[in-house]
Order: sequence, then C-alpha cells, then structure tokens
Amino acid sequence: MSSAMSWLVILLAVINVVGVVWLLIVTAQKAPEDNDATATTGHAWDGDLVEYNKPLPRWWLWLFIGTVIFAIIYLVLYPGFGKYAGVLGWNQNSDHAAAVAVAEEKASTIMAQFDGKPLPALAADLKAQSIGRNVFANNCATCHGSDARGNPGFPNLADNDWIWGGAPENVLSSIVDGRTAVMPPLGAALGEQGVTDVTAYIRSLSGLSHDTRAAAAGGERYATLCIACHAADATGNPLLGAPNLADNIWLYGSDAATIAEGINYGRYGQMPAHGPIIGEQRARLVAAYVLHLSQQSGGASASAGGSR
Ligand code: HEC
Ligand code: HEC
Repeated sequence: MSSAMSWLVILLAVINVVGVVWLLIVTAQKAPEDNDATATTGHAWDGDLVEYNKPLPRWWLWLFIGTVIFAIIYLVLYPGFGKYAGVLGWNQNSDHAAAVAVAEEKASTIMAQFDGKPLPALAADLKAQSIGRNVFANNCATCHGSDARGNPGFPNLADNDWIWGGAPENVLSSIVDGRTAVMPPLGAALGEQGVTDVTAYIRSLSGLSHDTRAAAAGGERYATLCIACHAADATGNPLLGAPNLADNIWLYGSDAATIAEGINYGRYGQMPAHGPIIGEQRARLVAAYVLHLSQQSGGASASAGGSR
C-alpha cells in the first residue's frame, strides 16, 4: 500500500468513528428535553399527518456504542488502520500459508504409506489410483485432457503407446524432469516436392491413402534425412522423443497437411518438469495412475486410427 493510500484509509477510518461518536452525542443530548411523549417534529402532511419526535431506544444506542468500541479494539489488534499491521501481527498470507502447511502435512502423511513401493504395485492399488487421479485432474488434465486421452500436440497417456518409453521409470522421469522434443524444420532441405513426397511415404507406412510414386520418391528422402531420429523402420527413438511413424498413432495428426506442416516448420513439444511443482510423492502416484490407465487400455490398438 502506498503512503498516500495508507493516509487516505486512516483518514476515512477516523472520519467514520468520529462521525458515529458525534451522532451519538447529539442524539443523547437531545433525548432528555424530548421526554414529552407527544412531541412531534412539527411537520404535517395531508393536513393532519404528523411525526412523533422520540429519542432512540436505549438498547439501540448501546448497540451503536458497542460498534464504536468494537471498531477501536479491532483496529488496534488487526490490520485495517492504513499501513499499521495491528498488535496481533495477523495477515491473510501467513494465515493462508499456515492452512496450506497443515493440509500439506495431512496429505503427506496419507501419501507416506506409498513411499518406497514399486510403481507397478501402486498402479494396481485402488487407493493410490484415486489419489493419483486427483493429482492428474489438478495438474495434468489441462494439457492431456480430463480422460488423459490427449489433444493434438499433447500425447494420449491412457494408451499403451509411449513416445519417451513406457517403462515405469521412463514415465516417472517424463513427469518429474519434463521432456523437450525437437523435430528440426526440414522444408528448406526437402523443397516443396520433397515435402509432398516424404509426406506420402509417411502416410503409406500407416496404411493411409497416398500416391504410390510420390511415396517411393519420399522413401529415398526419408532414408537420408529422417532415419537418424525416427529409425530406418520408422519405429522412432524414445531417447529423442521421436515418435513411431509407422503405427498410425499421431501426436499432431495424420492428415497430409499436418504432417507436411511438421516437416516444413519443425515441432517443439514440451512437457514441463513437474517434480518441482508437485513433489516426489505426488509424481509417483500420478505416474502409477497413468500406468494403470495404459494397462487398462489393453494395448496400443485402443487409440489407433489417427485420433491421437
Ligand atoms: C533431429 C531428429 C529428427 C529428425 C532428423 C526428424 N525428426 Fe521428425 N520428429 C522428431 C521429434 C523429436 C518429433 C516429436 C516432436 C514433438 O514431440 O513435438 C518428431 C515428429 C515428427 C512427426 C510428427 C509425428 C506425430 O505423431 O504427429 C512427423 C510426421 C515427423 N517427425 C516426420 C519426420 C520426417 C519425415 C523427417 C525427415 C524428413 C523427420 N521427421 C526428421 C525428430 C526428428
Ligand atoms: C503444459 C502442458 C502439460 C502439462 C501441464 C503436463 N504435460 Fe505431460 N506432456 C506435455 C507435452 C506437450 C508432452 C509431449 C512432449 C513431446 O512432444 O514429446 C507431454 C508428455 C508427457 C509424457 C510422456 C508421454 C509419452 O508418450 O512418452 C508423460 C508421461 C506426461 N506428459 C505426463 C504428464 C503428467 C502426469 C502431468 C501432470 C503431473 C503432465 N504430463 C502435465 C504437456 C503437458
């Protein structure tokens, strides 16, 4: 709060309290003279409609005095008087931090029962799954979808197909340390025709409609420019995050325009490191949860068909 704002708040608080006190004094002084129960304010409406002039009831007056006393005590104890922090030193932030610390301690105690257990065991544990599902909903669903089935550019985590490897330690590492995929832009190296040809070749690998002659020419370009990362048989390389291009499971999309776009301009998929955000216990539980989902899917075919 700036100094000017602090003084303005102090001024408003003082005006309010002093104003109420003044009102109380004025009404209290008037009361004794107006003991006459039939005295009126002197106004008359419609000829004979008049208004009694009676003092405030005592209990009402005491209520007012009570609020003034309350306000002064409150302003001494709590923040409210400009920058003055109050005798108790209370503030919203420390209050919130304390509540979070208590909740975190409780959650940590609950999660501690899973510490040190291997991920496959956790993936089969209903209680671990349910905590993992909550962690997923709070931290992962925005990108991977609430059902973990992904979106274009964000991989499906509920199938049994893994870009960065599906062993429990690989999945955990994807979550804790994050992943950075770099597919270089190759439009300049290939030329327009080259991109069209190699796109046809990529589509042919998944059995999608393609021009046979273009695909044959594209196969040659693939062998020089792409195998370093995607492998000669196009099954990809989990160490680089280079996807399998022959399984009809797509991170970005299977249509020719989307494939050509990636080849022309490159792709830079980023999984942010979540270790620092959610901590080890939650990371292990959410890893177990997605492993459980992929086991349930019963194989990669569950999500085939170009939807991923
Ligand atoms: C330096 C390594 C590298 C080279 C060379 C490379 N790629 Fe890639 N490619 C990748 C990586 C890594 C990704 C994943 C990008 C991401 O996740 O954002 C990728 C993604 C793709 C995709 C998207 C797959 C999907 O599921 O949507 C296609 C298609 C593709 N590459 C085709 C090619 C073709 C064709 C070539 C050769 C002309 C090529 N790549 C060369 C590393 C490479
Ligand atoms: C900001 C978006 C974002 C958030 C949030 C996010 N992810 Fe990811 N995640 C990605 C992207 C993008 C990739 C793919 C990186 C690439 O192109 O290879 C990915 C990849 C992964 C992979 C590797 C998948 C594979 O096939 O190998 C796993 C596992 C994963 N995320 C789990 C999670 C979990 C669990 C959470 C929550 C704790 C999470 N992600 C939160 C964007 C996100």
